[in-house]
Amino acid sequence: MTTNQKVLTWLEEMKALTQPDKVVWIDGSEDQLNALREEAVSTGELIKLNQEKLPGCYLHRTAENDVARVEDRTFICTTKREDAGPTNNWMAPAEMYAMLREIYNGSMKGRTMYVVPYIMGPAGSPFSKVGIELTDSIYVVLNMNIMTRMGQIALDELGDGDFVKCLHAKCDVDPEKRYIVQFPEDNTIWSCNSAYGGNVLLGKKCFALRIASYMGYKEGWMAEHMLILGLTNPAGEKKYVAAAFPSACGKTNLAMLIPPAVLGDYKVETVGDDIAWIRIGEDGRLWAINPEAGFFGVAPGTSEKTNYNALEATKKNTIFTNVALCDDGTVWWEGLTKEAPAHCIDWLGKEWTPESGTKAAHPNSRFTAPAVNCPCISPEFEAPNGVPLSAIIFGGRRAKSAPLVYQSFDWNHGVFVGATMASETTAAATGATGVVRRDPMAMRPFCGYNMGDYFQHWIDMGHKPELTNPPKIFHVNWFRRDEDGNFMWPGFGDNMRVLNWILDRCDGKVGATETPIGYVPKKEDLNLTGLDIDDKTLTELLSVDKDVWRAELPGIKEYFDQFGDKLPAGIQEQYDALAARLK
Ligand code: GTP
Ligand code: SPV
Ligand code: MN
Repeated sequence: MTTNQKVLTWLEEMKALTQPDKVVWIDGSEDQLNALREEAVSTGELIKLNQEKLPGCYLHRTAENDVARVEDRTFICTTKREDAGPTNNWMAPAEMYAMLREIYNGSMKGRTMYVVPYIMGPAGSPFSKVGIELTDSIYVVLNMNIMTRMGQIALDELGDGDFVKCLHAKCDVDPEKRYIVQFPEDNTIWSCNSAYGGNVLLGKKCFALRIASYMGYKEGWMAEHMLILGLTNPAGEKKYVAAAFPSACGKTNLAMLIPPAVLGDYKVETVGDDIAWIRIGEDGRLWAINPEAGFFGVAPGTSEKTNYNALEATKKNTIFTNVALCDDGTVWWEGLTKEAPAHCIDWLGKEWTPESGTKAAHPNSRFTAPAVNCPCISPEFEAPNGVPLSAIIFGGRRAKSAPLVYQSFDWNHGVFVGATMASETTAAATGATGVVRRDPMAMRPFCGYNMGDYFQHWIDMGHKPELTNPPKIFHVNWFRRDEDGNFMWPGFGDNMRVLNWILDRCDGKVGATETPIGYVPKKEDLNLTGLDIDDKTLTELLSVDKDVWRAELPGIKEYFDQFGDKLPAGIQEQYDALAARLK
């Protein structure tokens, strides 16, 4: 399938290490995929769902201890510790390779190694990059088929070029020996002892964010944890925005939102729901592509009402992970329907009824759905140069403090807004949920190098002379809560009202109030037609409480202090300016 000597040499080395019984090259053909599906069903790795209601759909259950990304076992291994920075786990590459070799040694005995060539980005795009994942999991092969352009197409794209070397072995799925390791200096990713989505679909977070962010730093572009959407207004004008929210904080939902009909003839189209690779285009704007070919979306909370388009995307050729299995061979998760099924098999494979008192689906249960299934997929989804960005939006889950939306004063202030992002943790990673933590640009778990250098890279990108028309930078918060703990903003489709204000700001068409943290809309600046929201709630959603923000300063300072000399002067200046404005 390839004569690329670098591929063949590396494959021999990895075979000698893991000692599989058999090696199978994945060509991406439907025949080969069908045989793999059948094999996985026969071993119980996959459960075939009701093929009349959900054609081409399967269910997979992971081990109970293997249900989310494991941030405490994720490493960035650079020669110098400083290059990984204070927010990443680090070990010297030689030491890590030695430790992992022991784990991988003979781990594929009695198993088959699949060689999975894949492209991140559309075939033929100057933005695209090739990876090859070696894995002993059919689940991984079938998911990679949905999430990437996989098979011979990738080897053709590669030619004799370089690729990201990815090794995944399930081993014994032992959480004590689970490691997700990036070696950015070697374009290498090693993952072992997991068989769960984000830990093992190595094209996604490991390559397209951790390795690619480092490539972007070296080469002058950016890999970001961002959705990309296109918005067309009733006049037919189309603009694109990218938005970075932490895991399980609403990217897929915003990327596919359905504008409320009362607002008029607006249309949202999805370019991407999780990752954006961003470069400066010849026209002096930032252009973004989605390197992925599918959605690995959060199932709970996804319903016809909250995200019709995502739900539609899951109705064929989809793999579900850790959702509940209904008696009719369909699937269910909390929030799919108001009423739970009277009986189902839960994500652990146990009998479940509404009286069980447990969740039927794991809170981080997911669907892997092909992007082409999505009714609102953008016609630019495969555009080789991507789409030009008018705005970049940061956001998180903040029960208090952050207003519904605000605009930064300029690029550097926008970078500071991204760098000071904080959000409540979610089930997307192991560990406690609901704890507020700093998550700059939603990249804390995904930045493949020193985050101080990453902040500087952001500042530098904004000041490159070629970038004559940078996007404006905003911050949103859909998750403000009242005293009773209820969300104050309806969210979902109604977020369109906020997007509208953002795009009108980009055109200088709408007003705002200047506050110490940025420009916040006045009530009359938002189109609230047909929205049932009381004045008091709205006032609070748009308020900036100086005392609350002043109380944020010490936490921000403490967070920045860990970067020492690596904290850019441009960020320190923004901190000082904010402190002065809050006096
Ligand atoms: P990752 O795939 O982990 O990166 O997550 P994501 O950022 O794509 O998050 P997603 O859109 O899947 O949403 C996660 C959860 O937040 C789901 O349970 C949604 O129902 C909920 N959510 C999304 N948007 C909103 C919103 O506007 N308001 C409220 N209240 N909840 C929302
Ligand atoms: C996230 O956690 O941000 C995800 C899911 O998109 S995973 O691929 O598991 O990282
Ligand atoms: Mn994500």
